[in-house]
Amino acid sequence: MKKIWIIHNSLHGNSEQISKTIAEDLKTTYDVSIDSIKNITPEDIVKDDPYGLVVATRILAFRSDNEIREFIKNMDRVITKPISKVAYFSTHALRWKNFFIKGMTKTLEKAECVGEICPEFLEVKMEKAEGPAIEGSDVKIGEFISTLRNFMN
Ligand SMILES: Cc1cc2nc3c(=O)[nH]c(=O)nc-3n(C[C@H](O)[C@H](O)[C@H](O)COP(=O)(O)O)c2cc1C
Repeated sequence: MKKIWIIHNSLHGNSEQISKTIAEDLKTTYDVSIDSIKNITPEDIVKDDPYGLVVATRILAFRSDNEIREFIKNMDRVITKPISKVAYFSTHALRWKNFFIKGMTKTLEKAECVGEICPEFLEVKMEKAEGPAIEGSDVKIGEFISTLRNFMN
């Protein structure tokens, strides 16, 4: 089974919850590990030589969470070969603006540890910072999982 890592930096649990939903589905086909970057180091990911990586990105102060961007940058220090397939998604509470995710896109595009980036991206709006996700999000998340399955193939 190919290895896929899903990483998040969830405070309120929104991006963790979606990460878990994705993990549950992908587990039928892949060897999936999921954790908060607070519990792991870049070395933990790299030693598994993962085929795929999914990065949950929360939006803080109109930007992609800097801590998870730093984590990816730090993976560059220890990686020996790029992770073939990398995808990302975002949770947020305000009306979506494309610039929210620009920082993460830039980080992934620059990172040597990142191979191909999934061209499709998921953003899930929360009713408020603590959640829950707005109505209709389950369908979007399901569609993203299908996209991921095609992309990770
Ligand atoms: C300090 C702070 C700042 C935030 N800033 C924004 C923001 O600028 N835009 C937005 O859409 N959501 C913002 N949010 C909402 C979070 O992006 C949203 O709650 C997200 O789902 C949190 O993810 P988590 O539950 O995985 O921690 C902010 C939340 C916090 C706590």
